Amino acid sequence: MVLEKYEKVVKHTLHPAKITMAIVKDKNDKFNAITLEWFMRTSIEPPMFAISIAHSRYSYECLQNFRYFNLCFPSPELVEMTKVSGSKSGRDIDKFAECEVDYFPGKLAKLPIIKNAAATFECKIISQVKSGDHTIFAGEVKHAWYDTERRVITYKDLT
Ligand SMILES: Cc1cc2nc3c(=O)[nH]c(=O)nc-3n(C[C@H](O)[C@H](O)[C@H](O)COP(=O)(O)O)c2cc1C
Repeated sequence: MVLEKYEKVVKHTLHPAKITMAIVKDKNDKFNAITLEWFMRTSIEPPMFAISIAHSRYSYECLQNFRYFNLCFPSPELVEMTKVSGSKSGRDIDKFAECEVDYFPGKLAKLPIIKNAAATFECKIISQVKSGDHTIFAGEVKHAWYDTERRVITYKDLT
């Protein structure tokens, strides 16, 4: 064991990492997707997921306004969308139009359920807490969808 700078030590712990996308909606009813590595399950009963979103993201604005998100676990077929959603901003583009993915409206808030995702959890925001330059949004899972034929991707699939 050696004592080192935070940045160096945290890099050593990063992988393997699961990747997800939060699907949100802006105030003009445009859907947006943001790629996330910082998410976790936080409750069994009720089932809950938390996502950590930087204040600079367009998705942060969306979540302040519309208090629902779909947590979409991409399959290998959605690698391209996951890359676009993690590198471009919904302020500048319509990610759903650019990526041409098929989806249908969810049961909770009509946010998109992407057809070839491995799984999607429809969540309602219950609480939020500021965490440095991010805010953690905790969402209660209201509906869960999956496709047994499709696997979830990890960070490695994006490289
Ligand atoms: C692999 C990967 C993981 C990411 N994880 C997070 C994250 O957990 N939280 C976050 O705020 N941004 C994260 N980002 C950055 C956002 O996805 C990126 O800034 C995105 O373009 C923001 O889109 P928006 O402005 O439309 O919200 C990640 C990006 C990548 C490629």
